Amino acid sequence: MSATDGSQCSQTPEYHVLELFSGIGGMHYAIERSGKPYKVVSAIDINPVANTIYNHNFGENKASNSNILSLTPDRIQKLGVNVILMSPPCQPFTRNGNFKDVDDRRADPFVHLCDLLDKIPTVQFILLENVKGFERSQACELYKTRLAAAGFQFKEYILSPHDFGVPNTRHRYYCVAKRTAFSNPSAEIVLKPSSRHVAPGKRISDIVEPESEKLSRYLLKDDLLRKRLAIMDVCTPDSTNSMCFTKAYTHYAEGTGSVYSPLTRSEFDEIYRQIECTEDDGERMKLLKSLKVRYFTPTEVARLMCFPEDFEFPKQTTDKQCYRVLGNSINVLVVSSLFDEMD
Ligand SMILES: C[S@@+](CC[C@H](N)C(=O)[O-])C[C@H]1O[C@@H](n2cnc3c(N)ncnc32)[C@H](O)[C@@H]1O
Repeated sequence: MSATDGSQCSQTPEYHVLELFSGIGGMHYAIERSGKPYKVVSAIDINPVANTIYNHNFGENKASNSNILSLTPDRIQKLGVNVILMSPPCQPFTRNGNFKDVDDRRADPFVHLCDLLDKIPTVQFILLENVKGFERSQACELYKTRLAAAGFQFKEYILSPHDFGVPNTRHRYYCVAKRTAFSNPSAEIVLKPSSRHVAPGKRISDIVEPESEKLSRYLLKDDLLRKRLAIMDVCTPDSTNSMCFTKAYTHYAEGTGSVYSPLTRSEFDEIYRQIECTEDDGERMKLLKSLKVRYFTPTEVARLMCFPEDFEFPKQTTDKQCYRVLGNSINVLVVSSLFDEMD
């Protein structure tokens, strides 16, 4: 178990953080990774599974099971926080959620927070994450209007970990707001990371677990191989990218994340070519199985999202729960780069 807390680096932590919609603590890991002195004073989420995972990694009772709709300015002031980190539910701003925006009840806690912005004078810095597309929403307009009215300046980004050298695509919207001026303000949405955060591109071989019998349970079932492999994005060890992992990974085949074959790309392509020329069903299945295509494990997905190696799931967490909470979470490296703006 890891219970890292930036307060260990400093006698008087400068950043007292309120982590809202805290999930499995992606934001907590991001500020830890940024090296800023901090203390997470309170983390709030209504999902008990996510809270159990959060507490397993950061210590008992760190995340509280409560509803953000009941958060008051008075409570925030009493907590003595000067930083808010948040990634509100994204469903109101996605096709799957029918783009209902502020009319989706799942946006209510975010709208509630917009109403609090001018009543929390001690808060100096707010970092928000959401899906790409949020920038076109009424909720985003409301947020920016309320930020400005409360005396915040802000800067917006759409970034993907792939631009940082991570073999994973996950375009997300970020808004950094603070009460002081930005050293390099931008009226446009920033689309590229600053060069100091860009590392040489990693390959998928850098993040996969060593081949072992334990991984066989992640192999694709025959029916899926036969019917859906053609529409899946298959990574091989030399791949330099993978698709965004969503909370529906392994539940739906299409568009929820890549799968993995340990063969080289040329071996894979050669076998795939044979499959396409084979009419015999038995022979096709034999060839399909020889591709050894499997899902990425939760540990591998966590690595692609740049969670630290000591992050772990409690033993009782099912794979399905792991994929759901990871799909809801954030890329730790990308978010950590945004704390540069705190200075
Ligand atoms: C996009 S996820 C945030 C994930 C988080 N940043 C992480 O790293 O795992 C949104 C989270 O908001 C939580 N949530 C939704 N409505 C809430 C509410 N009214 N009060 C508290 N938490 C809520 C969900 O349970 C979910 O964990």
